[in-house]
This record gives sequence, structure tokens and C-alpha cells, in this order.
Amino acid sequence: MNANRSIFQTGVLYLCDNLRIMSALPENIIDLIYLDPPFFTGKERRARSRIKESDDSFGDKWGSGIEGYIKWLSPRLIEARRLLNSTGLIYLHLDWHAVHYAKVEMDRIFGYKRFINEIIWRYRTGGVSKNMFARKHDTILAYSKSQKYRIEPWKEKAYTKSRYRKAGRINYGSGEAEFFSDSNGVYNFVNASDVWDIPYINSQAKERVGYPSQKPESLLERIISSSTRKGDIVADFFCGSGTTGVVAQKLGRRWILADQSISALEVTRMRLRQVPVDNGNMKGNNEITIHKC
Ligand SMILES: C[S@@+](CC[C@H](N)C(=O)[O-])C[C@H]1O[C@@H](n2cnc3c(N)ncnc32)[C@H](O)[C@@H]1O
Repeated sequence: MNANRSIFQTGVLYLCDNLRIMSALPENIIDLIYLDPPFFTGKERRARSRIKESDDSFGDKWGSGIEGYIKWLSPRLIEARRLLNSTGLIYLHLDWHAVHYAKVEMDRIFGYKRFINEIIWRYRTGGVSKNMFARKHDTILAYSKSQKYRIEPWKEKAYTKSRYRKAGRINYGSGEAEFFSDSNGVYNFVNASDVWDIPYINSQAKERVGYPSQKPESLLERIISSSTRKGDIVADFFCGSGTTGVVAQKLGRRWILADQSISALEVTRMRLRQVPVDNGNMKGNNEITIHKC
């Protein structure tokens, strides 16, 4: 497939080992890549899909250890860098199992100076630990291809500790700030930090399709809306149940998705068909094709 790098279409679900499609796409075409690979858990990830009858699962067992895992991940990160345009960004989603090894690899491939954020996604799931602090977060590494990237953090409430601060506009001389109040106290709005509290998808959640390791739409919403604009191209080459595509489509971004599992792509297609399209390139395209590559 390397010989023909001209194939390039958004709104297609690619069914294959992602390295095949990544190396077949032309360079400098993608604005944002979100990668949510197997985490190096050493387990088979299995869950029952709510949408279809079949079992969905994917392997996360690595006889070759962490070195083998990084050796497998590395060429995909190299291709991801090649695919990003000069203002492009990549978000790599992992957890404690492999993220520190992956950080070193990302530094090697993208450059230490291209590191932007280590985002902590904190959630409250059941289960505590007797002999360690409960592990309740994932880590998402954000890197840019060049210095020319653009991220617009959203604003969030920051409560003041000052007992004297009242709601209203304050002039500091060097600038102004507006304070508000609610039952928790007085606050103003500041740019969001790199720790994100987002609930895990619970068993009753409407968005839950039962795919193992399905990520919440609100997590992808934060990433996509802060790091891209309408019409931009968002890619996810480990798309699983298609959360990235669903959110991209909702936000009027174009998407490229891939997974090596047909059942993942069937769930993805089912979800995408339920999302209205608001984007020049894909308008009216209800027939989303699965392309075997
Ligand atoms: C953690 S899940 C992604 C979950 C997804 N973010 C969601 O919200 O549903 C990882 C996915 O990567 C896929 N996968 C693993 N290795 C792959 C490969 N080499 N090429 C393509 N897909 C792969 C698995 O089939 C699985 O669906």
C-alpha cells in the first residue's frame, strides 16, 4: 500500500491493522490525531455490546513485555507524526501501565520540546485499595508537530479563598476580572488546567454501547473542541466504538477512523448513523462505508 499514498478520503471507516492505512495516507493532511491503543494491561478486554448480539473484545497481552509493546507502538507514532499537518496535534491516551515508556518514545519521535501537556483524566469508579492509593486516572500525552499549534483552553470556575472578595468587576490596574457567586462561594473564570474530572461511563449511561474501554464523549469533546476548528480533519486509528468520530461529526469536523476489528467498526457505523452531519464535505452522507485495507 505504501506505493499509493494518494488515496485520501474522510468519512470512511478503515478495517485493517492501522499501520497499513497510516502508511498509505499522504503526509501533512490531519489536524488532530487521538490514539487510544490497548494500554499494556496484559488482559483480554471483553464486554458485551448493547447494540449487537456478538461479543466485542480486543487483545492486550504482550508476550514480548514492555519493550515489545513500545516497539509495536513506535512505528504508529512515527506515521502519526508524518500524517499531521504543520499545526497538527496528537493526543496519546494511556495509563500507568505504559505511559512513562511511551512519553520517552514520544519525546524521541516528536521532540522533547514538542511536548505540550500530560492531561490527567480523573474518574471515580468503584473499588478501593488496602495497600496503595486507588488508581483512578488515565494519562493523555499531548504533542504538537511544530511550534505553530493552536489550543484554546475552555474557561472554568476558580473559587477565591479571599473572604473579602465580592461578586462584581475588579480593576487591578494591569487588567480587569469579573467575579460571580453561587452557593459554593465567589469565583471567576480561568483557563482550564490539565486535570480533568470527567465521570466514567456508568452502566446506565445513555451513550454506553458496551464496547470495552469506550471513552466518554465529554472527554473527546474537550480535546476536539479545544484543538480544532469546524471542517478540520480528526483521525483515530484505534477507534473502537467510534467515540472520536461521533464527537467529531457532532462538532462539524471531518473524520478518518480505523480499527482492525469488524465488530468495532460496525458499532462505530451504527453510532455515526445516529449523529446529524453538519459539515460541507459529508452532508447527506448517511451511507458510511467500511473499507477493507
Ligand atoms: C482502547 S480501544 C479504543 C476505544 C475507543 N476509544 C472507544 O471510545 O470506544 C482500542 C482499539 O484498538 C483496536 N486495535 C488494537 N490494535 C490495533 C491495530 N494494530 N490496528 C487497528 N486497530 C487496533 C482494538 O480493536 C480496539 O478496538
